[in-house]
Amino acid sequence: MNINKNVLRNNHKTFKRALCIILTLFVVFTIVTVWGNVTLSVDTFLFETDKVNVESGYKIAHVSDYHNTDNIFLNDAVFSSLEVEKPDAIVLTGDLIDSRKTDIEIAINFVSRLVEIAPVYYVTGNHECNVSIKSQSAFDNMILDLKALGVVVLRNESLEITLPNNEKLNLFGINDPYFHCEYESEVGEATDSLCASFKVDKSKFNVLLAHHPEQLEIYSEYNFDLVFSGHAHGGQIRIFNQALIAPDQGLFPEFTDGEYKSGDTTLIVSRGIGNSVIPLRVFCRPHLIYLEIK
Ligand SMILES: [Fe+2]
Repeated sequence: MNINKNVLRNNHKTFKRALCIILTLFVVFTIVTVWGNVTLSVDTFLFETDKVNVESGYKIAHVSDYHNTDNIFLNDAVFSSLEVEKPDAIVLTGDLIDSRKTDIEIAINFVSRLVEIAPVYYVTGNHECNVSIKSQSAFDNMILDLKALGVVVLRNESLEITLPNNEKLNLFGINDPYFHCEYESEVGEATDSLCASFKVDKSKFNVLLAHHPEQLEIYSEYNFDLVFSGHAHGGQIRIFNQALIAPDQGLFPEFTDGEYKSGDTTLIVSRGIGNSVIPLRVFCRPHLIYLEIK
């Protein structure tokens, strides 16, 4: 009888201890996850090239996948960082708005603050495409609002930017390929024809803004030196730094965060600021990138 009582007492203690550990882990996980969704992670890259001589440097801030983020902590963090870093240019690589949230005004207000800091260059993402399907006039008005703010909208267009020392950078921007195709299986072909529409002079310094990172091989074929992308949201959930899932890449995606190379092309991928289908990030903080060209 005594032996049974002791066993029961020990089992009860073990259960309480296990419950305590599980609750502690749950509380820690919740705190870390909340913190990881309302704070900004900032990464800095150096891009050295022989094609231009800019000893003083030219700093580009890369903001992607804003998705109408109305989180004041994140918005404040973005502007606090930009005010300190004072970039020479800001590139927005698509999904500035979210097709599931209708309040485009949040994105326009965000951009109205960006243009006070530096020239802003923008390309569309798949969410802009979805918005245009739902309401062409809402999309058209958004583009008009961006242009009225002085944003350079690059929908299969390019321009020359003058860097310090009177050096030149050719900036290209493609529309999201979903404006030109319907299915995931057609994204590569659409991207290829969009890139082919440019005359890229290999001897010049060529930078591309393109929402989709998984098309790196194609960007490389068209002689872009540097490409800025987003779209993958860092895989949204990262376990031991392995991304879990991304649109157009599926499970365990490859192109989600940071720097990638193919041939002479360097791809920089932002994990983005906001969320869409999955409203939460796990070990995948919102992301702001600075890249200095030297
Ligand atoms: Fe996105």
